[in-house]
Amino acid sequence: MKIILASDHGGVNLRKEVADVLYQLGVDYEDIGCDCEDSVDYPDYAFPAAERVANGEFDKAILICGTGIGMSISANKVKGIRAALVHDLFTAKATREHNNSNVLCMGERVIGPGLAREIARTWVTTEFEAGRHKTRVSKIAEYENK
Ligand code: RB5
Repeated sequence: MKIILASDHGGVNLRKEVADVLYQLGVDYEDIGCDCEDSVDYPDYAFPAAERVANGEFDKAILICGTGIGMSISANKVKGIRAALVHDLFTAKATREHNNSNVLCMGERVIGPGLAREIARTWVTTEFEAGRHKTRVSKIAEYENK
C-alpha cells in the first residue's frame, strides 16, 4: 500500500505523528509537506495529493489542516476521491468498511496526537467490506461520471 501524506501549516505537528505511525506500520509513504510554519493554502496540498490518488500513483492519502475541513472539501472536488473527515475511532473504521474512503482528513486543532495516531492506524488497517456497500459507492462514481 502506498500513501501520500500532506498538511498545511495548521497540521504540521499531527502530520509528523501520522508519518511515524505509517513508518511503524511499514507502509510505503511519501510526505509532500508543507515544510514550514508560514501560512500556506490547504488547496495547494489537497489537490496534488488527491490527484495522485485518483490517478493510481497512490492508494490513499492522509491530509491534515487545522480543522481537517478545508482539506476534505478540497480533496472531494477531485473525481474518484472519497475523503472522510474523521475525529473518532468509530468513524475511522466505519468509513473504510462502508465508504471505502481513499482519503483521511483530520484537524490538528480538533484532536490530540494520541487519538490521531490511533485513527490513522485504524483507517490504514481496516478493509472495505464491499457487499451492499459496493453498490452505494458505485452510485457515487456513476454520479461523478454523468
Ligand atoms: C488555517 O488557518 C486553517 O484555516 C486551515 O488549516 C483549515 O483549518 C481549514 O479548513
